[in-house]
Amino acid sequence: LITSLFMVLVAYLLGSITSALPIAKLFNLPDPRTQGSNNAGATNIYRLGGKRPALLVLCADILKGTVPVYVGFYLGLTPLALGFVALGACLGHMYPVYFQFQGGKGVATALGCFLPLGFDFVGILITLWIIIYRIFRWSSLAALVTVGVAPSLAYWLQPDFTYPVAMLSGLIVFQHRSNILRLVQGTEPKT
Ligand code: G3P
Repeated sequence: LITSLFMVLVAYLLGSITSALPIAKLFNLPDPRTQGSNNAGATNIYRLGGKRPALLVLCADILKGTVPVYVGFYLGLTPLALGFVALGACLGHMYPVYFQFQGGKGVATALGCFLPLGFDFVGILITLWIIIYRIFRWSSLAALVTVGVAPSLAYWLQPDFTYPVAMLSGLIVFQHRSNILRLVQGTEPKT
């Protein structure tokens, strides 16, 4: 239990390094929390600064999820405990202790947490994200559909991880509540 709690804390502290903020500074971009969708994530950095900084943010945010889950896995944590480590990483990204608890929506970090579940699982999710995005040009809708499908996919490919994946998916849907409202009202901006 101590190891699990320690890893959740480590994941939260690592997740709190909101890469969009230092990377925005590096590229002389405005604070993404006050521009565009006001979100400190790769999509909004893409809006503000294009592909290069967005790709950097994407990679850094993915790593924040992958590293603690892999370490937890090698320390022998149970699937449920790994789910809490993943939650810790995503909560850190969403509510970063170093940045006034104002972070991103957790899609890239959750993807990073899912990576240790296998390339088939993650590959299907990424493909789905790309298809929805290509059709509708809404990053938020692509993310919502993808995390909506993720628990069923986990049940099929990695049944032990169904609940942990569902917990992450629920958290990400919650974090997209303003996007959901805009999608319903038809005011969500295309990317
Ligand atoms: O990954 C975040 C995305 O789903 C929504 O981002 O900036 O359009 O609110 P944004």
